[in-house]
Amino acid sequence: MTRHAQRAAAVATAVPAVSDVPREFAFSDADFRSLVHLAREHAGIALSDSKRNLVYTRVARRLRALGFTSFKQYRSYLAENSDELESFINAISTNLTKFFREAHHFEHFRSHVVAPVLHAIPRGGGRFRVWSAGCSTGEEPYTIAAVLRREIPGGCRHDIRILATDIDTDVLGKAARGIYPASAFDSVPTIYREYFTPAGDGLNDSNLMADERLRSLIAFRRLNLIEPWPFRGKFDAIFCRNVMIYFDNATKAELIERFIQSIKPGGVLYIGHSESFHGSHPGLKLVGRTTYRRGA
Ligand SMILES: C[S@@+](CC[C@H](N)C(=O)[O-])C[C@H]1O[C@@H](n2cnc3c(N)ncnc32)[C@H](O)[C@@H]1O
Repeated sequence: MTRHAQRAAAVATAVPAVSDVPREFAFSDADFRSLVHLAREHAGIALSDSKRNLVYTRVARRLRALGFTSFKQYRSYLAENSDELESFINAISTNLTKFFREAHHFEHFRSHVVAPVLHAIPRGGGRFRVWSAGCSTGEEPYTIAAVLRREIPGGCRHDIRILATDIDTDVLGKAARGIYPASAFDSVPTIYREYFTPAGDGLNDSNLMADERLRSLIAFRRLNLIEPWPFRGKFDAIFCRNVMIYFDNATKAELIERFIQSIKPGGVLYIGHSESFHGSHPGLKLVGRTTYRRGA
């Protein structure tokens, strides 16, 4: 055996397989399957077997918070306390996001959606609607707002609104506060930094917050995408990025149909980088990277 192979063999015997790692809480197959079922039924989130450790780690936090010693106890509690379902969904959802994530979408939005629609009515009075569906902690809607403010400095003469929704009430709370550590702004181009000012929240001197020019454009709401949507108006643009990746194909296809119905003719749907549709869709034309325009 070579020295490299000997070292590899030693490491392999020293590191136990994941399933052998002693766990703080008993976590059976039945526990896993039952939580997978709840996530699918109530949030549309599809969790494969490979997500077993993720489910354990995220839900274990709820067990600690509630003082339970097993997942079986937690499942009984969940069955008897409908309020806990919200905390369970909050725990299970993946909220990774950042300002100007997939920046090409915002350049397209600025030059192909905002400018043609709102510059066409220079005297104001235009109605412009954007939906950030699955907005997480708010970086996406604040990015949209910053792009809008800079492109249309006199934006107040138009009726501009950004609806920002998520199923997770914890992230929505953070989004509404709009306060972020300085490091979160590394991805914000210099020309947009003026919209973020020192938070003065007494927690960290370098924290920044989205200023009123951005906040005043956004309404944060809880909305579960797989349930009926409580609005009829149509949007100039919908951003639903890195959300459908957690859904199964049938849920994804159904959502895309509903998004098409909610986009104005000529409006644009932005989806995440790994979510491109398989094949074309009759209602949508690919006009850029993961960027689709609804037919007029
Ligand atoms: C990874 S984040 C994406 C954030 C942002 N759109 C981005 O691309 O940076 C996915 C978000 O989708 C939300 N989500 C998951 N299932 C949902 C559902 N059924 N309805 C609404 N939001 C959901 C999660 O809570 C999470 O905040």
